[in-house]
Amino acid sequence: MKVDVLLGLQWGDEGKGKIVDVLTPQYDIIARFQGGPNAGHTLEFEGIKHVLHTIPSGIFRKDVINLVGNGVVIDPVIFQKELEKLAPFNLDIKSRLLISKKAHLILPTHRLLDAASETAKGKNKIGSTLKGIGPTYMDKTGRNGLRVGDIFTAQFKEKYDALVEKHVGILKHYEGFEYDLAELEGPWMEGIETLRELTAVDSEHYLNHALKSGKKVLAEGAQGTMLDIDFGTYPFVTSSNTVTAGTCTGLGVAPTKIGRVIGIFKAYCTRVGSGPFPTELEDATGEAIRAEGREFGATTGRPRRCGWIDLPQMKYAIMVNGVTELSMMKADVLSIFDTIQVCTHYLIDGNKVEDFPFDVDGANLTPVYEELEGWNCDLTQLDDYSKAPQALKNYVTYLEEKLEVPITVVSVGPDRKQTLNNN
Ligand code: GDP
Ligand code: IMO
Ligand code: MG
Repeated sequence: MKVDVLLGLQWGDEGKGKIVDVLTPQYDIIARFQGGPNAGHTLEFEGIKHVLHTIPSGIFRKDVINLVGNGVVIDPVIFQKELEKLAPFNLDIKSRLLISKKAHLILPTHRLLDAASETAKGKNKIGSTLKGIGPTYMDKTGRNGLRVGDIFTAQFKEKYDALVEKHVGILKHYEGFEYDLAELEGPWMEGIETLRELTAVDSEHYLNHALKSGKKVLAEGAQGTMLDIDFGTYPFVTSSNTVTAGTCTGLGVAPTKIGRVIGIFKAYCTRVGSGPFPTELEDATGEAIRAEGREFGATTGRPRRCGWIDLPQMKYAIMVNGVTELSMMKADVLSIFDTIQVCTHYLIDGNKVEDFPFDVDGANLTPVYEELEGWNCDLTQLDDYSKAPQALKNYVTYLEEKLEVPITVVSVGPDRKQTLNNN
């Protein structure tokens, strides 16, 4: 069997959690391959809204294994809180949630370093979620990190103390940055105790054995392609590879084992945090999208920046990920408009540019739009794509032609049930 991949094509928050939850009944294993608690994946069903940060979005479906892969970074405190929130649902976490021994741990001092670094950057800050993601991946690539497997060894405390000492040394360079480490360490050590009671596995072996025995695996991405450390709008990115290739390194599956690649995108576009966003609308239209789409971060509550869909950006994301099918989210949000704009290309210094360029932050970049007819009616009660208004179908067909990939799912509301198949 091959691993199917589901990931975000824009700047995150595309609706990945919802579609993973919708697709989970077709799979045996759902595996997160990168990122950490900077992610906030929302699932809605039976009138309840759930937000997951580290735990894969297949956790609510019976009999499905959820795996936190080696590419993920785990904050034991946030992890414990997530588990506590799941406790009332009797999900049999011990046998259904597996954690890679090679996943790295976010230390309290990683969070402090994240905060100190952002403060020092001033107006050039990344707009990080401040969950310690950057410093943890830095220690991973710097070969200093602590991994889940270490917590079962006798040297764990010694390794922890050595790394903390190193961090405290670095923190001294941030003048005026104050902190109380002891206050953070108590809950962290409690979180480690909780992790010890869960099931840690050699996840690359586990997954490859599972594939060999015919099990179906879906890899769940976090963040989005434009936040990828290599292909995103650097330096305003996260610190992991959010693209399909990240599945191979983040789970230990070979490139030849990748199957379908499901790209998730909003019918418009959003971004939270700093950095370039060519089609951003800093006006009443942008505010209307934010209000209608409830565009506030699932992890930090920050307002998301909103704008129209950007075809050069989408084509770029489809290219680097090898997307085989698309899910278009939040079509219902655009119901408030009579007309919808689609950015077809940019003008840079007066020249037409269709390939997403190296520098998108230049004042010289102008997005060029094509206007399409809106549908201007409520979509949230639709139960069949064939009943969708013609203007929505035209929008979908237009995007399919431009992007050269089929849009197989159209989402018309946050609930599991508000999902239309277009096959
Ligand atoms: P993720 O990080 O990609 O999983 O996305 P988030 O959960 O951060 O943000 C997506 C938000 O949009 C969540 O609040 C979802 O409940 C909501 N959502 C998902 N699909 C739809 C949809 O089709 N319509 C509307 N109105 N909301 C949606
Ligand atoms: P999901 O999985 C949206 C953004 C932050 C910041 C930048 C770096 O829910 O789609 P970091 O905390 O990684 O140092 O932040 O990346 N960011 C996200 N934006 N959705 C996310 O995850 C994000 N995770 C990080 O806002 O701009
Ligand atoms: Mg999110």
